Formats: sequence, structure tokens, C-alpha cells
Amino acid sequence: MFGIKGKPCTAVIRRLIPWFLLTIVMLLFYCFTSQEKPRSAQEDTCPLSIAKRSQSSLFDSVLKSNKCSPKMNIMFMKTHKTASSTILNILFRFGEKHKLKFALPDGRNDFFYPSPFLCSQVKDYQPGQCFNVVCNHMRFDHHEVSKLLPPDSVYFTILRNPVDLFESSFHYYRRAIPLTWKIGGENKLLEFLNNPLNFYSPQAYNSFYLRNLLNFDFGFDNNLEADDAHVTTNIQYLSKRFDLVLIAEYFEESLILLKDLLCWTWEDVLYFKQNSRERSSVSKLSPEMRNKAAQWNGADWRLYQHFNSTFWARVEAYGRDRMEKEVNLLRRGNARMKDICIEGEGAVKAQKIQDRRFMPWQPLGESSIMGYNLKTNVEPKNKAMCEKLLTPEIQYLSDLGVNLWLTRVWGWLRDTIY
Ligand SMILES: *[C@@H]1O[C@H](CO)[C@@H](O)[C@H](O)[C@H]1NC(C)=O
Repeated sequence: MFGIKGKPCTAVIRRLIPWFLLTIVMLLFYCFTSQEKPRSAQEDTCPLSIAKRSQSSLFDSVLKSNKCSPKMNIMFMKTHKTASSTILNILFRFGEKHKLKFALPDGRNDFFYPSPFLCSQVKDYQPGQCFNVVCNHMRFDHHEVSKLLPPDSVYFTILRNPVDLFESSFHYYRRAIPLTWKIGGENKLLEFLNNPLNFYSPQAYNSFYLRNLLNFDFGFDNNLEADDAHVTTNIQYLSKRFDLVLIAEYFEESLILLKDLLCWTWEDVLYFKQNSRERSSVSKLSPEMRNKAAQWNGADWRLYQHFNSTFWARVEAYGRDRMEKEVNLLRRGNARMKDICIEGEGAVKAQKIQDRRFMPWQPLGESSIMGYNLKTNVEPKNKAMCEKLLTPEIQYLSDLGVNLWLTRVWGWLRDTIY
């Protein structure tokens, strides 16, 4: 992989040094994280204070007018490769605007994914502490999450067609999944789909990225077959836990439903698509291959089908015409913000992003994730809003006070090796 053949030995050693350093860093890291503090006997649940505040303000505003008041206690289960980074930007902006307390990760941009979520992974966590927002990548565990949030919190998440999600995950994480290294041929994705069992093994490192990643993110077994009864119970479980399940393919409609549920303003849900990939790097799959991908990810497929239909039932209940009107309003709002904030036509390739503050995190071994350039002559009154809209997840987390040393070490190693 590193073109060892024919190169002097020193070059090989130079290339091995980062891996060696990485191993040491990882060892240190596991030493730190495996020292779980013993759980205190006193049950660490979140006190009701925050919940009470928002309930009383709701009551006040109902008396004053018929309007609802914005929901401030939120759990967003951030799934992988589902446009969830765009939602994160929305949540970060809302949280800053209302000075909400985020339960943030520590040292990196997720809660030690793929380990199951634990409260103790939250930065500066003390038992009994209450937060307003939980929204970073985790392997979901409702019981643990519920200790952090008031009981009136709104839980929502986002799903994407598992075929496209699989394609995206395969592309994005391929180099980090040793299972795929031995796949030969021009098109590794097709090779894999034609005979997944040839390459796949449930125990292998990072193998969950290759099968039913949605189920895995929600804390379930990602190796269940589609007809397994557990898949049905898992779907029922999620229906009970989540107040709203968004669908990435209908992103604008999703945001309208979200805005309605959370009683937010238009400004709150404006967005620029974050973390999108250059079209040339997206594999186009034939219907036959799509079918194979759906079958291979059968448990995710069932999950998606279920929530796709509940989603449309909600759109129906909301009113189709009303929805259409609001989607148009949202599009207009976004187009206006684009005129105000963005230089040129829109998203540009990573190499063309001038300001590192707006450079999104790139997958191992390539720069296929696009980003934006801030308009050079942006008006001072719009500058702050524009900057926030354009700030990618990692930089935003940094702005919110997360020290991302692990993520940075990894990024540095990655850039040194490739
Ligand atoms: C999701 O639901 C919509 C509306 O019923 C339907 O048109 C669409 O084909 C569904 N998507 C998938 C992938 O089944």
C-alpha cells in the first residue's frame, strides 16, 4: 500500500514512524479511558430544574398567546453518512443563540464511538448534572442518555436510504476497514456486493461500517438478518423512544417537521449542506447492485422502510399543501443566505477552500469532501451568522470548547502518511 518496493529502507522506516506513534497514542488513550470511575450509589439522574423552567415558560406563553414556545431540551441521535452534520450545525447555532448547555465529547468529536455511550464520556460530567442538548456521534443507549436530559426532552434522529448510506460508508471508511484491503479489482464496492461473505466477518475491526450501520448506531446487533424477530422489536423500540425520525432524502420536509415539533423560527432551520461529497467520487450503482446492497443491509432496509412510511404519514397529517409552501419558503431563505454569505456558485472542492476555518474533515487518503468560501465583501452585520453557517463540525466543536487533541493527532498522522 505504501509503495515499499524499490525504495530505500530509510523511506520505509520513515513511513512506519507515524504508525508506531499512533500505536503508542492509542495505548495511552485506552489506559486513560479504561479507568472507569466506580459508579456512585446515589442514582445519577438529571434533576427536573431545567424541565420545570421550560414548562413554566410554556405555560406563560400559552396564557399570553396561542403560540408555542421553543423546545430547548433536545437529543439528536447523530447517525453516520445521513446528512447529520448539517443538522449538527443547526443545533450548534440554536444552542449558542439560547446559551444552552451541550453535553460535549472529550478529546475527540464523538462519544468514543463505536463503544456504547456512557454518561462518563461527557466532558466534565458529574453525576446528577443536567444538559440541554446531546447531539454528537455515539452508539445509542437510551438509559444512559436519559440521565443527562430532563424528562421533557425531544428525541429525534435521521435515517437515509441504506443503499446510498452503504455506498457512502464504504467509500468514506474503506481505508480504515482492514476487511476491504484484500478486495481486488477496479471497483471494490462491486466486488464486495457480488459476494460479501467472501470478505466480511462480524468480528473484524471496524466491520460494522460495512453492514447495517444504522442498526449499529442505534445500539443494536448489526448482523441480524432482515427476517429476525429482533429487527421488528428494535423498530418498535425506536418508535417509542424517538419523537421524530427525519429522512435524509426529504431533507427540507424533514426540517419543516422538525421546526414545527420544536416550535423554532425560520432562521433556526436555515442551512448550507455540510460534508457533501464530490459527485465524481460517488459510485453509481445499477438496479441489480442496489438490490444486492439492500439485501445485504436488510435490517437497515426494514428500519428505513418503516420510518419512511411513518414520515410520510406525518407529512400527510401536517398537510401536503402546507408542506409544499413551507418547503418553498425554506428554499428561498437558504438561497438568500447563499447570496449573502457564499463566494461563487456554492460548494467547492476541498483544494479550493481558502480559509482553513471552513475546511471540512476529509476521509483517510483523499480530499473529496466539499466546503464553502465566505464572501469576501460580506456585510459586517451578516458576518457572524455566515461564519457559523459555514463552520464545519470539528471547528464548531472547538469553538464550543472541546479540546480535540485525539482527533488532531489522528489528522496529523493521516496527513503525514498519505
Ligand atoms: C419512501 O416513501 C415515499 C412515499 O411513500 C416513496 O415514494 C419512496 O419510494 C419511499 N422510499 C423508499 C426507498 O422506499
